[in-house]
Amino acid sequence: MEKVMYSATQPSGALTIGNYVGAIRNWVNYQSEYECYFAMADLHALTVRQEPAALRRRTLELAALYIACGVDPERCALYVQSHVHEHAEMCWLLNCFAYVGEMSRMTQFKDKSAKHADNINMGLMDYPVLMAADILLYQTDCVPVGADQTQHVEIARDLAVRFNNLYGETFRVPQALLPASGARIRSLQDPAKKMSKSDENPNASVFLTDDRDTVIRKFKRAVTDSGDRIVQSEEKPGVSNLLAIYAAFRGVSVADAEREFEGQGYASFKLAVGETVADALAPVQAEQKRLLADKTYLAGALKAGAEKAHYAARKTLSKAYRKVGFYRGD
Ligand code: TYM
Repeated sequence: MEKVMYSATQPSGALTIGNYVGAIRNWVNYQSEYECYFAMADLHALTVRQEPAALRRRTLELAALYIACGVDPERCALYVQSHVHEHAEMCWLLNCFAYVGEMSRMTQFKDKSAKHADNINMGLMDYPVLMAADILLYQTDCVPVGADQTQHVEIARDLAVRFNNLYGETFRVPQALLPASGARIRSLQDPAKKMSKSDENPNASVFLTDDRDTVIRKFKRAVTDSGDRIVQSEEKPGVSNLLAIYAAFRGVSVADAEREFEGQGYASFKLAVGETVADALAPVQAEQKRLLADKTYLAGALKAGAEKAHYAARKTLSKAYRKVGFYRGD
């Protein structure tokens, strides 16, 4: 049986280079080895207030971006999460096996609750269960994500095992797959934090939509550390982050990057990182723009993706419904 890969991104804001090297770029390499499902997680995005027109526009932009990054809709199921209603149904089923205690301990729930104290809705707490539903519906083996999502993949594993122990083999137990470099890209302004779509400081994150000058300017302004050596170390989180970004974009090891910049100053190092990133983003941006001009193609690709996903999801959902004892009319 072919191995299955599943991943998704929320259309909740402009994507950062963290999303790119931590996740999307990594997906592309596996398309020939795995049966792949890649989604735009709009149900997840709703856990934080979204402006409806912007959410709609971003969902399509994200689809175009996936394809521009090399996701091939002929080979993978590329689809919008809300187009496949089994996700919400499976989420309900798994809710009845997920404990409030374990959900309230999730790091992301705690962070987002602090950030959106006026809107700590049920969806925010249920977020990891919906993510488990996404993953388990496709009998997924492998989930390529950045380091911030490993705790959620762990919950998906726990729920799969818990359900399987109660009802017999139903779900495959998935594993997270982190990229060799770039699993946790940090803020350019505060390397203690991860680079995030929703950072209030626009200089903290490099967006995939940023033009060349903006990318280079943001890297020039990136905080570095005291001293002048360009080496990875715990005492140098700023420089280490820039080295990780450079290594990820160049496809070299951090040790190689250190060697390349030995003896150079911070200014020329930051410029080199900025130029490398800008060079890598330019063709992706051009391709995304080209794709967005052809809405008919995109809509067709997403429809085909949703049909393929629906077929696989239906099978697992029916199996789980039978296991728990739902009357199925036969
Ligand atoms: P999201 O939209 O926050 O992020 C999408 C992907 O980008 C990775 N990522 C990063 N990687 C490295 N450095 C960073 N600074 C960085 N920031 C984000 C994330 O780890 C993620 O892989 N809940 C998910 C979306 C989702 C999903 C799923 C993922 C919904 N269902 C099922 C996998 C499987 C999320 O919010 O990702």
